[in-house]
Amino acid sequence: MILVNQDALEFHLQTNDSSYIIKVAETGHLINLHYGNKLKHREHFSTLDHRFNVKLGSTTNYAPEHGNLTLETLKLETACYGKGDYRDPQFQFEYADGSRTSDFIYKSYKLNSKKIKIDGLPSCHSPDNKNGPTSLTIILHEPVKNLELHIHYSIFESANIISRSAEVINTSSDIVNIEKALSACIDFSHSDFELIHLEGKWTKEAQLTRHALNKGNFQIDSKKGVSGANHNPFLCLAMPDCDEFKGECYGFGLVYSGNHQCSVEVSPYDYTRVMLGINSFDFRWVLSPKETFSLPEVVMTFSSGGLNSMSRNFHTLVNRHLVQAQWQGAPRPIQVNNWEATYFDFDAKKLLSIAKKAQELGIEMFVLDDGWFGKRDDETTSLGDYFDNKKLRGGVEKLSKRIKDLGLKFGIWVEPEMVSIDSQLYKKHPDWAIQHSDRSPSLGREQLLLDMSNPEVIDYLYEQLSNLFTRTNTDYVKWDHNRNFSDIYSAFLDKSQQASFSHRYVLGLYLLLEKLTNAFPNILFESCSSGGNRFDLGMLAYMPQTWTSDNTDALERMSIQYGTSLLYPLSTMSAHVSGRPSHQVLRNTSIETRFNVAAFGNLGFQLDITQLTPFESKAVKQQIAFYKQHRSLLQYGEFYRLKSPFENNQMLWMVINDDNSEALLGYYQKQQQSNSNLESIRLPMLNANDYYQVLNRPQYVNIRQFGDLVNEQLPVSIKDRGVLHGLLANHYMHEVTKENYELYGDQISAFGIPLKSQFVGTEMTDEVRFIGDCGSRIYQIRKLEINQ
Ligand code: DGJ
Repeated sequence: MILVNQDALEFHLQTNDSSYIIKVAETGHLINLHYGNKLKHREHFSTLDHRFNVKLGSTTNYAPEHGNLTLETLKLETACYGKGDYRDPQFQFEYADGSRTSDFIYKSYKLNSKKIKIDGLPSCHSPDNKNGPTSLTIILHEPVKNLELHIHYSIFESANIISRSAEVINTSSDIVNIEKALSACIDFSHSDFELIHLEGKWTKEAQLTRHALNKGNFQIDSKKGVSGANHNPFLCLAMPDCDEFKGECYGFGLVYSGNHQCSVEVSPYDYTRVMLGINSFDFRWVLSPKETFSLPEVVMTFSSGGLNSMSRNFHTLVNRHLVQAQWQGAPRPIQVNNWEATYFDFDAKKLLSIAKKAQELGIEMFVLDDGWFGKRDDETTSLGDYFDNKKLRGGVEKLSKRIKDLGLKFGIWVEPEMVSIDSQLYKKHPDWAIQHSDRSPSLGREQLLLDMSNPEVIDYLYEQLSNLFTRTNTDYVKWDHNRNFSDIYSAFLDKSQQASFSHRYVLGLYLLLEKLTNAFPNILFESCSSGGNRFDLGMLAYMPQTWTSDNTDALERMSIQYGTSLLYPLSTMSAHVSGRPSHQVLRNTSIETRFNVAAFGNLGFQLDITQLTPFESKAVKQQIAFYKQHRSLLQYGEFYRLKSPFENNQMLWMVINDDNSEALLGYYQKQQQSNSNLESIRLPMLNANDYYQVLNRPQYVNIRQFGDLVNEQLPVSIKDRGVLHGLLANHYMHEVTKENYELYGDQISAFGIPLKSQFVGTEMTDEVRFIGDCGSRIYQIRKLEINQ
């Protein structure tokens, strides 16, 4: 609900559990009174306008008529440079006369029944709030330089999200240079927080980091052209006692896929300022008279119930209000992707053999990865060309048809934003590549970027891709992007526009995606950028899922998926079972653990499944059947993080349905501990009076794992590493210890699931769990009717 105290010009934005209250101060500046727990609406909130009422030394007084008032200690909703606020500003403009001071003063407000769409940028859809208007626009005015700022606030009641975006409108008759324009500025009058964010790099994305705040400015950003794996455009401020289940925290995410900057500044007065937006580094936008510049949306949430509840708010937002309508809640198919199975070394026969095996195993979609076009048999060539590679006799059309004849869906990989120097496209249009003619360009993965700010490039790509999607009748597209920006210069843009290139690139990309997803609403798009180098809310608005990481090692994936879940729901994370040993870290993990990790996300297989042993084939077949049976829970269930792999030898996470009658709990152990202790798992979210059964998913252990203790496990006596041992290892499905616990919800919450002891080197009985290094289980929890 949005409530307005007309006389005091106070605006109260309420979600189900939070309040965001802002007001127009006596100076005309928009200030924040409260963001946090939901407050009852009152006739006025003047008591919340907590300010210094003493003259502060060495400050700049805003204006004589306002006495000692300084902007430095106001909680500003819009922060500019030049009138005495010395914290980092949200906006910086340079005017035609060279001056750079700005001051935005309240002009008017509007309530909107629907959310305002942001021109050229992705944003959340209008929510179906129950009560009154959905969005509030506040118009501010720069009285000297004649600029307007339209700040749009929207509420997503049931998701507990408030979003902000803004437009800068040049109502003057002069050109204005926008040097910095961030989407949101949120000030708090204390700094008791800890900061949580996701840092990373290639094959090591989304590493959860938490640290105290210090005085000064802390900034994460991207200068890579994409949102980047180094710092996801996300911040969380958490009170020191906040953990997954309790305590207060605020989450902030940016709906943008290019260079971003997210900062937290603690002022000398211990105020905390959070800002997110397009990176002002290497950015300038020339705004001509009458033009408007739109800023990407920031989504923010407050939770008093810990980090899990913050994440669930974001997950609801993404699943219900960000991804396109046709993909909201849509079951995502299980895929096999040929990349780690073949890399560039394939022909139609090999691909079809994989597809046939996939069909036998119950996989639903075959995805043809890189190398199907031009003369691309390695990384050096052919990006930009869309004709079929000779190694695919009959081409992709024929392949797609044969795959569909097997009853599988067909998906295809593309990397549209790139060009290889060795390509027909480059020969024809060298000016479409990002480079400067005086300098030889630095290459990333042997390739150059295409100039996405040039409409001709967008038209070319739209035509080529539409043609490809139509002729292959494709069901799914993996949209890759494998290099960061360098040598930024566009032959299309004029001199004054060069410093806006990175943003124009993103706008061009969004335009292309908008056109393609409108023209092909039934194609499921998955975004990828060398894994998670562009995992952000902007891409998810067009492509409802993302390739989480090029690292498919189960152990590494635990942390990557755990971290990613801070902001992004399971339905957005693609997770594949890959070969053994892992191609990224050369680690051996069992086929069951590889599945148990990948199952919490959009499941796929990325290994040569034609080479699976009979043991592995049987295990995979059962895994797929299990995944299908629980797909909606695994993709859309309420997700809880229980034990962090960043701090523990074990990791726990779970998904649960709406009425808490069914859940799946993922249990993972990095290293076997000697003589390990008793373990019980407490789950606070079950219904106290319901009676639950907890069963482990039946899974199998390769008897090779037991070495010469194999005879402890088998009724027959065999020789360690003998022929029979090898034969049995490949065929014999040795089931892990069966577990069955039954107890009430309040017992599981207060005491925990009393797990059977782990193997400690003394005996192997039916009562002992052998988990081992990189071992795991999935526990199925379901409510039993008491009389059952
Ligand atoms: C990078 C991706 O992340 C991989 O999954 C694969 O598609 C390769 N590119 C193909 O070049």
